[in-house]
Amino acid sequence: MGKPHISNHPLVKHKLTLLRDKTTESKKFRELIREISLLIAYEALSDLAVVPKPVETPLTTTQGYKLAEPIGLIPILRSGLGMVEGIWEMIPSAEVWHIGLFRDEETLRPVSYYNRLPIHPTVSVCLILDPMLATGGSAVKAVEILKKWGARRIKFLGLIGAPEGVEALNSEHPDVEIYLAALDDHLNERAYIVPGLGDAGDRQFGTA
Ligand code: URA
Repeated sequence: MGKPHISNHPLVKHKLTLLRDKTTESKKFRELIREISLLIAYEALSDLAVVPKPVETPLTTTQGYKLAEPIGLIPILRSGLGMVEGIWEMIPSAEVWHIGLFRDEETLRPVSYYNRLPIHPTVSVCLILDPMLATGGSAVKAVEILKKWGARRIKFLGLIGAPEGVEALNSEHPDVEIYLAALDDHLNERAYIVPGLGDAGDRQFGTA
C-alpha cells in the first residue's frame, strides 16, 4: 500500500485551521466537520464506477451517467457521526451502518459493542468514517468487521491522522486506502494527536 491521500485543497486547509482552533465552539465545529468530510469524500470517491444512462434535456437526448455501485457509510461511534451528514446529502442513496467500539482497558484492544450489519453485504464500496486516526486500533478493528461481513472495497476517511495510526492501518490492511485532511506529527502519552484538535467527540457534542 502506498501513502495516505492527504488533501491539498485550499478550502480543506482553511477549514481545518478553524476546526483545530480551541476557541471554535461546538456548533461551528460540527459545521466544519460536515464541510471538510464532504470535501474529503469528493476526493476519495473520484474512482467510483458509473454506468451510461441516457437523459432527456429540454432540447434533446444525450448520454448521461449514474453511479454503478451501492455505497455504505460506516461511522465509528461516536465521533464519526458528524462526518455522515454532508456526505449523505451528496449521496442520498448511501446506506449508513454504525459500528460502536470501545477500548478494553486491560488488553487495550478495541471491542465492538454495537454492530447491526445484516448477514450479507448490501453495499460494494464501504467508507469508514472516523475523524481521528490516532493509534489506528479502531480503524483496524472496523476493517476486520467489514471484511468478515464480506465487504470487498473499503476506504478509510478521516480528518487528522497520526503517523502511528496510518502505519497500523497500512500494515494490517494494506488494501484499504486512507484519505485525510492532514497528517500530524505524533501521539502524546494519552494517545491524543499532536497538534490535533483535542477530543473530536467532546468538541462535537459539547461534552468536554
Ligand atoms: N481521538 C480524538 O478525539 N482526538 C485525538 O487526538 C485522538 C483520538
